[in-house]
Amino acid sequence: MHKTSLTIDCNLLTIMRFGLMLKQRAALCALKRRDRRRTSGSGLSRNAMGTALLAAFMVFGAVQASADDDDYDDDSLAEQFVHGAPAQPSEAWLLAAGGRIYDKWWAALDRDEPDGTHPLYPATGQQSGKNTWRCEECHGWDYRGAAGIYRNGSHATGIKGIEGAIGWPEDKIAALMRGSHAYTPEMINDAEMARLAAFVSRGQIDMSAYIDPETRQVTGGDADRGRAVFQTVCAACHGFDGRRLDWGDDGEHAYIGTEAAKVPDEVLNKILNAHPGEEMVNLRAFSPDVAADVLRYTTTLPTK
Ligand code: HEC
Ligand code: HEC
Repeated sequence: MHKTSLTIDCNLLTIMRFGLMLKQRAALCALKRRDRRRTSGSGLSRNAMGTALLAAFMVFGAVQASADDDDYDDDSLAEQFVHGAPAQPSEAWLLAAGGRIYDKWWAALDRDEPDGTHPLYPATGQQSGKNTWRCEECHGWDYRGAAGIYRNGSHATGIKGIEGAIGWPEDKIAALMRGSHAYTPEMINDAEMARLAAFVSRGQIDMSAYIDPETRQVTGGDADRGRAVFQTVCAACHGFDGRRLDWGDDGEHAYIGTEAAKVPDEVLNKILNAHPGEEMVNLRAFSPDVAADVLRYTTTLPTK
């Protein structure tokens, strides 16, 4: 009798301790979940945790494990993902971050839009204003300038690509950006410039392996493999048919399918680096072939 009640007391005590631990752990897990990181176990086996959790529920009633979620500032985490930097940047993160600066630096870096037309933009070009400050406007989504997709059309400038700068030391690239290119530290600071330079030096891919620069048709990639990635990754935000997000205006829809049909080189750039200023994933950590597979699949999606 005496022995039994002692056992129960001990069990109760253990359960109470577990209950407390679990509540702290639940808060921690919610935190990590929001942070999109995986937690490893704390030494307790899954089963022991499960049993203890059940016991805690039985003894104390429902433990409000999710109540702590509200304490966590989700928006600042999203902001950190979009505009911040990890403490220990990987090469993949670095190159993708640089690629987003190449795309539209003020959106990527949360800066004011630039005024006027870029000093290097030729008078013969058809564009003007802030967009002429985007690297891609002069050097192209395929990084090949006049030798690539911008060889003709409304974005043609006759300016060369940046493939000649592959392998350049980063400080040489940064110096060119601060010099003739007129990008001030207020626009792109030194740390950000280093990301851009890393991208120029080591992040360019040869898009002509996947997209014909003459016809702008997608020629490479495997749609079936791409469908697997699209359905398991991209669809979370864009929907299975790519129409959940629509960035069109004036009554015109712009879905992934719309963009893939019109500007596949731009889409490939976004798949490799993500869309600047948005909470979007990128596939930079994988081979460019994976990105090309996804691109190929997106050309099969509805355009309107
Ligand atoms: C308004 C047009 C324009 C914009 C925008 C522009 N560039 Fe350039 N870029 C040029 C021109 C013209 C040259 C060739 C003459 C020169 O080096 O100044 C050039 C040359 C380069 C070169 C050297 C290529 C070589 O092989 O010599 C690199 C690298 C480069 N740009 C990177 C960038 C990056 C990165 C950005 C965005 C931060 C950018 N450019 C934005 C016009 C532009
Ligand atoms: C976590 C959510 C999320 C995921 C996952 C995601 N995207 Fe996005 N994507 C966005 C958001 C948000 C935008 C911006 C939409 C807007 O401007 O209205 C966007 C924009 C785009 C754009 C358009 C950029 C433009 O305006 O030209 C393309 C193309 C794109 N995504 C492709 C993809 C592909 C392909 C994948 C899978 C590899 C993917 N996205 C995965 C959230 C996501």
